[in-house]
Amino acid sequence: MSTLTIIDHPLVQRDVSILRDKNTPNHLFRNVLSRIAGMMAFEVTHNFALKKYSILTPLEKTSGFKLKENIVIIPILRAGLGMVEGFMNVLPEAKVGHVGLYRDEETLEPIDYYSKFPKTLSSSLVLLIDPMLATGGSAKTALTFLKNKGAKNIRFVCLVASPAGVKIVQKNHPDVDIFCAAVDRGLNNNGYILPGLGDAGDRVFGTE
Ligand code: PRP
Ligand code: URA
Repeated sequence: MSTLTIIDHPLVQRDVSILRDKNTPNHLFRNVLSRIAGMMAFEVTHNFALKKYSILTPLEKTSGFKLKENIVIIPILRAGLGMVEGFMNVLPEAKVGHVGLYRDEETLEPIDYYSKFPKTLSSSLVLLIDPMLATGGSAKTALTFLKNKGAKNIRFVCLVASPAGVKIVQKNHPDVDIFCAAVDRGLNNNGYILPGLGDAGDRVFGTE
């Protein structure tokens, strides 16, 4: 069974609260989403393997460390884009793929419309990112998609999750560990997370 890690660092919790506030304007929402993604990246990467290599300081030879695995960051479009920069700031060596999915407003089923992945996908540690895990349909579909393209080692990072979404991902992808900043109460009839933060994509891009 996959693990669920709730990142309860005080700075992360402060930032989730700013994002929840409906009076937070789009530009601040974008900035804070990017900042929180960078902080979450520390927790998500805390057990990444290192490999030693030799370096010369200005004074002598010593050994240093680099990340052992190749890293691929994959945002689920659109809202996941708002977390890419935060992750790239601390993982500049990562490559970036994209999965485009939107939820049909009637059926809530995810519809895919775009994908592009680096060639190293199958040999990399993949971080799939999306601020919202609601019904779980988008994450479940994106994970299946990535596995069909060869990804073997995947972690899913979201900001706000619903209990139902966590259950769906864990049931369908028991090999994928989940990281989030909050698990909220539930979903409304339109599949929105309660209390949640509204439509993340709309708030990132100002399309409410
Ligand atoms: C949002 C969000 C997730 C999805 C979560 O995207 O960014 O991808 O909904 O919902 P689910 O768990 O019920 O599938 P949305 O479909 O609104 O597309 P957008 O990012 O383009 O606005
Ligand atoms: N997608 C969002 O952006 N927000 C929700 O609450 C649910 C799905």
